[in-house]
Amino acid sequence: MTESMNRLVFVSNRVGPLGDEGKAGGLAVGLADALRRRGGLWFGWSGETSEEGLGGELRSETHDKTELVTVDMTEEEAQGFYLHYANRTLWPLLHYRLDIAEFDRDSDRTYRAVNHRFAQRLRPLLKDDDLVWVHDYHFFYLGAELREQGYTGRIGFFLHIPFCPPEILGALPASLDLVSAMLAYDVVGFQTETDRRNFVTYCVQELEAEELDDGLVRVGERLTKTATFPIGIDAEGFAEFARSAEAQEHQAMVQGMANGRAQIVGVDRMDYSKGIIQRFRGFEQLLEDYPETHGQVRFLQVAPVSRGQLDAYAELRVELEQLAGNINGRFATLDWAPMQILTRGFTRKALAGIYRASRVCMVTPLRDGMNLVAKEYVAAQDPEDPGVLILSRFAGAKAELGAALIVNPYSSDDVSRALHYALTMPLDERRRRHALMAEKVFQNTAARWCDGFLETLKAFDGGRHVDNPDDAILQKPWLWDKALRLLGAVRPG
Ligand code: G6P
Repeated sequence: MTESMNRLVFVSNRVGPLGDEGKAGGLAVGLADALRRRGGLWFGWSGETSEEGLGGELRSETHDKTELVTVDMTEEEAQGFYLHYANRTLWPLLHYRLDIAEFDRDSDRTYRAVNHRFAQRLRPLLKDDDLVWVHDYHFFYLGAELREQGYTGRIGFFLHIPFCPPEILGALPASLDLVSAMLAYDVVGFQTETDRRNFVTYCVQELEAEELDDGLVRVGERLTKTATFPIGIDAEGFAEFARSAEAQEHQAMVQGMANGRAQIVGVDRMDYSKGIIQRFRGFEQLLEDYPETHGQVRFLQVAPVSRGQLDAYAELRVELEQLAGNINGRFATLDWAPMQILTRGFTRKALAGIYRASRVCMVTPLRDGMNLVAKEYVAAQDPEDPGVLILSRFAGAKAELGAALIVNPYSSDDVSRALHYALTMPLDERRRRHALMAEKVFQNTAARWCDGFLETLKAFDGGRHVDNPDDAILQKPWLWDKALRLLGAVRPG
């Protein structure tokens, strides 16, 4: 494709940082890797609140080939859109946690209004031949809003987190509107085939969509392309980080603390979806079932505090700290404490060193879109003496990293057995498994993910094809939906 002809426009709630400043994985890291290479415009929330909110001034900074443009939200917008609807409704729901998802009408309205205002602010910055790429669950309605504001260029959407089955999504009062709005995008991308299938099944069951070949979904005359694009990392860059002075310093520190013991590590945003509690229980089970490990292992959990204003997250922190305290209280001796939890974040270089110092890495989410920690751990290893990855069967990364030790994160027995197996795994098996995983991690990079999505978006024009302009409303299910609601009609089927 001719990259120079189409400017890339990323839209995501969080923007930046573009350097090595930090998070443990996730969307910001993936996008930063892609943008550092290609350049373009990155538009999103400043992370600040102000009186003017989304009506206020746009701020713009340029880093190499990338322009970051951000806007504030009012306190009310941030509460309703980000804290409530995105994080108390959509996040748990899409991670299959219907038990803790909260539904209310006000935050649903604020979420839609914020999508509308984001589209209003972005629209004047767009050129017709831009490739607009919207990211994640904060902006399900943004594409439909841009269309209503007359934007006719290509718009794609990628969901970084899981897409739950229709039986769960159907509990969301606005699920029909939300999925209808997603069909306004030309291309809708998912991390795994499971996520894509859940989406298509919802469309077929609830919107009378027709599933065609090549991932195409038709509702009325409107065609939307669905596909999977497993996100990757800048693997060469991360391997380079692992050889940096900062990494070596951290590697030496961790090795010093371990003092000849086998180091086990976990690195996650402190989030209930990451299965950290269950992981601690699995580690405790190891100490119970294999007394020979006492004094021989050390478990470090890095868990930077996340979304701390939400009760579920604040409670998780207390629970984790208590559990770590109990495990230490139960098993520690004068010269050995089995585990440590750190709630501060590290730079990615420092993390690379921590990964390299660790014989085992536990990535055991209860549900995860992809999980880039798993890929970073693999990229950071010394291929001659690599560590072992223990990976949840419910992480998107499992589709590519089947050579890890795959566990059911809910089963302490499973986790404990895998830990024991990892700690005793012979060098040749470690090398063999690592080589298989490294092949995927170094092949399916962030750059490849980005190019794959953009090529698909650029190549697809079926979604905007109009045979008869009078039928235009049929091609816009979100308008059709609105029209039906205005007429007080009930959806067919
Ligand atoms: C996940 C989501 C991202 C989100 C990140 C951090 O990786 O996919 O969209 O930005 O978590 O969460 P936060 O709420 O702090 O932005």
